Amino acid sequence: MSAPSESRSFGLTDRIIGQIDRAIKVLWSPTRTAREVPAHPGGEPALQESERLESCRLMRVNHAGEVSAQALYQGQALTAREGNVSEAMRRAADEEMDHLAWCETRLDELGGRTSLLNPLWYLGSFAVGALAGVLGDRTSLGFISETEKQVESHLSDHLARLPAADARSRAILEQMRHDEIMHGAAAASLGGAPLPAVVRAAMRLTSKGLTHGSYWL
Ligand SMILES: [Fe+2]
Ligand SMILES: [Fe+2]
Repeated sequence: MSAPSESRSFGLTDRIIGQIDRAIKVLWSPTRTAREVPAHPGGEPALQESERLESCRLMRVNHAGEVSAQALYQGQALTAREGNVSEAMRRAADEEMDHLAWCETRLDELGGRTSLLNPLWYLGSFAVGALAGVLGDRTSLGFISETEKQVESHLSDHLARLPAADARSRAILEQMRHDEIMHGAAAASLGGAPLPAVVRAAMRLTSKGLTHGSYWL
């Protein structure tokens, strides 16, 4: 009668190792992209030093946001109840890997660096994602839908703040915004429930912490 418990504990160990492996890949391995970095029409004007610095800060924030998105999806996939919801979360996380890789590539090109706070964002977001999953699939899907709505508005803000000459970063953020709108719509169509106003406000406050922290650190 020991076989089932051994296989259960092997399954759990396997999942823990899988999660650690994923976290290391997101935080410390160069990310591979399935889709090419979005192109921009026309040439690439040289950036002034002050413009380059501002682009580095903004793209560092966006990279940190994608680190957080990875952790949220992984946490939610871990605790999702329905197999198809868990599968949809993992698929979305794979698609989000492109965003992470694009931001990483652009930061490299600009001579910038990723946020020192990324491990913190990953851990916190993983916990929040796992909690959302525990609250049930409809809440978890509603959480994605609301997150993507807030990310869309954040990206619109960054598109307005990007130096005018930085067409390459702009092309990346525009494609990301397009994808986030699709992710939000997909979560809503799978049955996401609207979240209470207080939760939406708490989410906005948390994302402010991430954007301010990553801008400087
Ligand atoms: Fe994304
Ligand atoms: Fe997304």
